[in-house]
Amino acid sequence: MKRPADKGLLVVLEGVDGAGKSTQIRGLAERLATAGMPHVISREPTDGPHGRRLRESATRGRLPPAEELETFLADRRQHVAELILPSLADGKVVVLDRYYFSTAAYQGARGFDWEDILRRNEAFAPEPDVVFWLELPPTVSQERIGIRGEAVNDFERLDALRAVADIYAQLAGRYSFFHRLDARRTAEELLEEMWQSIQSRRAFCGVN
Ligand code: TYD
Repeated sequence: MKRPADKGLLVVLEGVDGAGKSTQIRGLAERLATAGMPHVISREPTDGPHGRRLRESATRGRLPPAEELETFLADRRQHVAELILPSLADGKVVVLDRYYFSTAAYQGARGFDWEDILRRNEAFAPEPDVVFWLELPPTVSQERIGIRGEAVNDFERLDALRAVADIYAQLAGRYSFFHRLDARRTAEELLEEMWQSIQSRRAFCGVN
């Protein structure tokens, strides 16, 4: 969904588990707070009822494919209506840990037509100003998840991760707002690059 170009800023972080999204989001939150920029940080799956169900399914056993896809969409519809659109209308910087590109990549990897997933999402979800795609080779992602001591959940098996990475690469070719970052660079370097990119956009988006 296109939205007024002069209000708020919608920033999305995407990538496989282990790419460092959570660390980067914490860094961005600190910088936004220090700069006094009104902002909100959120994530998908959300902490709402649909999101909780999806999170539990990662360890307890995944929902049947069609039900899983519909639950991600229901979770996002609520997120867009209750948090994303109102925050943008207030002129805030909205930073999201995952958005509809995750549905295209992960449910696409599960066998759905990812272009159709994009069309369904774009009917109601505002298009972001920038997506930072933290790219990590699937084998490195698995090693990192292992080092963190987390059991590799069913969303993150190697063959599935490869399919996910492949769809992310196609998304990067399709959208000019996709900004690819090599997730193996240091956390400080990555944060600095994202911050510069946000700074250069804020003047165009009515964010002070
Ligand atoms: P994740 O961000 O890894 O949550 P956590 O806070 O538990 O680390 O998201 C959980 C999983 O959900 C992740 O492996 C990717 C998957 N996912 C999808 O399959 N489709 C989606 O649309 C989204 C948003 C996430």
